[in-house]
Amino acid sequence: MFETIEEDIRLNFDNAKKTLLNLKKIGKIDNDFPYDIFMELLEHKNRDVRIEAIKNLGKYGGDYIEESLIQHFYTETDSLVKRECISSLGRQRNYQRVTFFTSVLQDKDPKIVLQAIRALLVFKNDEFVKNELLQIKEHPNEMIKEVIEIEFKEKRKKNIHHHSFVNPKLKNIIVNGDVIDTLKLLDEESIHLTFTSPPYYNARDYSFYSSYQEYLEFLRSVFKETHRVTKNGRFLIVNTSPVIVPRVSRKHSSKRYPIPFDIHNFLMQDGWEFIDDIIWKKPETSVKNRIGGFIQHRKPLGYKPNCTTEYIMVYRKKTHDLLDWNIKQYDKDIVERSKVHEKFETSNVWSIDPTFDKIHSAVFPKELCDRVIKYYSYVDDLVFDPFGGSGTFAESALNLNRSFFSTEINKDYFFRIKEKLSKYNINKKFFTLKEFQKWMQQEN
Ligand SMILES: C[S@@+](CC[C@H](N)C(=O)[O-])C[C@H]1O[C@@H](n2cnc3c(N)ncnc32)[C@H](O)[C@@H]1O
Repeated sequence: MFETIEEDIRLNFDNAKKTLLNLKKIGKIDNDFPYDIFMELLEHKNRDVRIEAIKNLGKYGGDYIEESLIQHFYTETDSLVKRECISSLGRQRNYQRVTFFTSVLQDKDPKIVLQAIRALLVFKNDEFVKNELLQIKEHPNEMIKEVIEIEFKEKRKKNIHHHSFVNPKLKNIIVNGDVIDTLKLLDEESIHLTFTSPPYYNARDYSFYSSYQEYLEFLRSVFKETHRVTKNGRFLIVNTSPVIVPRVSRKHSSKRYPIPFDIHNFLMQDGWEFIDDIIWKKPETSVKNRIGGFIQHRKPLGYKPNCTTEYIMVYRKKTHDLLDWNIKQYDKDIVERSKVHEKFETSNVWSIDPTFDKIHSAVFPKELCDRVIKYYSYVDDLVFDPFGGSGTFAESALNLNRSFFSTEINKDYFFRIKEKLSKYNINKKFFTLKEFQKWMQQEN
């Protein structure tokens, strides 16, 4: 069969489509078959043909073929074909090729470097290979850096507590105080999930900051402290949207602040890994009308759409452990009980009606909290909201068999939470910051 394929390739050498079809027909190769045809195809003008030829040459192995692939790597200009050379050579697992692979670590194309790393990792316990790989641990490309970090990571210091452990002293507690002061009293790795909607800069009446910069710095320190108390590989989910601070007079314009994008910037620098951007979509009738002027005048530049969306930004505490590691920390029974059996949202656009509260002006809809808890935590986990507001998230946690911990600086809102949770017959505590301090100092 091979002879006829070879003949056919030679007869239709310039017909890339036909040649490719023929090359793909070739399965296992017997060493008796001549490899000359594949050597010739290395010079083919079509890069897919060259790739298939290299794949087939890789099936032979041996010094002559391997050295020819190295030669081809240096003359080839197409990155994909170059990568196939390394991949085919890597499959030979021949220690003699280590010097070639290490020289490729200097290549400008990160994808080629990654392919060489893959080939070298077969010998990662060899001192020379290990040293060569560690030389690029500060590589400017983030993926290369991460692969080296993961492969040669030092063992994570073991936490005294198991991942699923919840400190009983933190279960079902609301502290009426500043979030940063409160978090300072918590051990590191105490919390499984944080979901919050931070103050909307100066757009609502419950918070005042002297400048946008000061506001961002405040949020940055809250999320840094949240990072410290978050368990390995667990999630922080932040609900924000750009806000408009109204104009001072008709002579001025209103100002729009891109809060989600500014927060995102510092979270990425402070040890959070970006996971997902979910859009919370509200009905247009429920939001402030901004389009009225444009409807009337129809003049370009004056277009101001009604803002019907908010962001639900999902981050994970950076770790080398995979999500599977997190899941394996739970007993089978907890995993079973936490499974989401009911209908769930399959896209990143969540259409949910907003909720209005008699006391708080910006509350989470229950449905939003329920989804976040169900999709991002396990039964019995400790979930946290630094900006408790009216306590919607805490209430969802109770309904879904999780424990909550929350802070809220405003007294009226604190009492609103107390009132909301009073109907639940569970052991819950409402503390001032001082009381909480004492509570944490008590032996048991
Ligand atoms: C957008 S609201 C949260 C609403 C909440 N998600 C709900 O469903 O009701 C933000 C809350 O953060 C509170 N807050 C502002 N600064 C705070 C701080 N330093 N510590 C704790 N809470 C704070 C405000 O009083 C406000 O209630």
